[in-house]
Amino acid sequence: MAGSDRTVVIKGGRIIDETGERLGDVVLRGDEIVDVGPGLTGDEVVDASGCIVAPGLVDLHTHLRQPGKEEAETIESGSRAAVLGGYTAVLAMPNTTPAIDCASVVREVLELGRASLCDVHTSGAITVDRAGEQLAPMAEMAELGVRLFTDDGTGVQDDRLMRRAMEYGRGLGVTLAQHCEVTSLSEGTCMHEGEWSARLGLPGQPAEAEELMVMRDIALARLTGARIHLLHLSTAGSVAMVAAARAGGLAVTAEAAPHHFTLTDACCAEYDATFKVHPPLRTDADVAAVQRGLADDTISAIATDHAPHAPEEKERPFDQAPPGMLGLEYALALAFTQLVDGGSGMSEADVLARLSWQPAAIAAMDRHGRPVAAGSPANLCVIDPDARWTIDASGGASRSRNVPYVGREVRGRVRHTICDGEVVVRDGEAQR
Ligand code: DOR
Repeated sequence: MAGSDRTVVIKGGRIIDETGERLGDVVLRGDEIVDVGPGLTGDEVVDASGCIVAPGLVDLHTHLRQPGKEEAETIESGSRAAVLGGYTAVLAMPNTTPAIDCASVVREVLELGRASLCDVHTSGAITVDRAGEQLAPMAEMAELGVRLFTDDGTGVQDDRLMRRAMEYGRGLGVTLAQHCEVTSLSEGTCMHEGEWSARLGLPGQPAEAEELMVMRDIALARLTGARIHLLHLSTAGSVAMVAAARAGGLAVTAEAAPHHFTLTDACCAEYDATFKVHPPLRTDADVAAVQRGLADDTISAIATDHAPHAPEEKERPFDQAPPGMLGLEYALALAFTQLVDGGSGMSEADVLARLSWQPAAIAAMDRHGRPVAAGSPANLCVIDPDARWTIDASGGASRSRNVPYVGREVRGRVRHTICDGEVVVRDGEAQR
């Protein structure tokens, strides 16, 4: 589209971005917004009446499974799910096979991403093969644009190695992101340790398995001056530590996944492995703390942790099935329903901040999350906030179907998604 003179006008919407809220039409030319205001026209009209027009959503935590597990997801199918969920950018997690731990695999993922429906960025592993033993060549990955490093799927256990990673990362100007889980407390477990694990006879991991690593990484961030991002926080104790670290001026950000502000460990009662995830679903008090953390901005981002697994994998017994659940097509509606309507005191604008411009800033994605204004890249989503729908078991565009929200009634649906000026979702349908 870039370079073309043809204009597209998004008409009749309520614009919400980091500068506030206003009514207005938005005119795009090529991959750029060229005008915003009342009564504008264009060669092509995209109807936004009754809708919110916002910067496209940005997911900091997407398992795209390519290379290596294409039966569960591909970059193509994952990006299709992403745009249907309102995302214009996703950050791929590195726990693929092989792991995204060097320049050649980063190049492969970015190359596949270029043909997909949204902007695909990738994280890079902190350690070689995510094995926690030797630092990965972070500089060569940073040179290709990698801005966030993580061994996600597992945390870096060795304190000294993590200190080195932070020192190195600080020098490179990148962010270290941690999957906080001390394996000596979590190994062999499959859910949260508490009343439900006792009742079900399943081995549980305590909240402290997460909290000890949150505590250590905050301490190491203080020591090294590194910028850190804590992935999928799930416990009240973790939220409290992040609040204290941020109040103390440390460069610490955190994210929460939709399942950790909507579901509890009671969901595991039927031994259905759809509800198995790492970190595990926790208690009512933890869910309330995550919601409060999102509301008061201790937790800056909602990230999906979209983790597709093939049906036959998830049909295994609870203790043997892989952890993870889908999220890309549900996050926005779950956030509107649970966080705006559910009484946590968040507005739609607050939710969009956690889903778009705040995660874009954390990952340094400067073409996303930008104000809806002339000169900004045309990465937008148009959301019908009044659409009510029921989540089904299909899994949407994903190759997998591990949906833990089946039957849940939600509010808010993506009507259109515009990536780099191209209308990739129109009236809820992917256009290619
Ligand atoms: O539940 C999870 N699934 N947590 C992770 O950290 C990894 C993810 C996966 O890759 O399936």
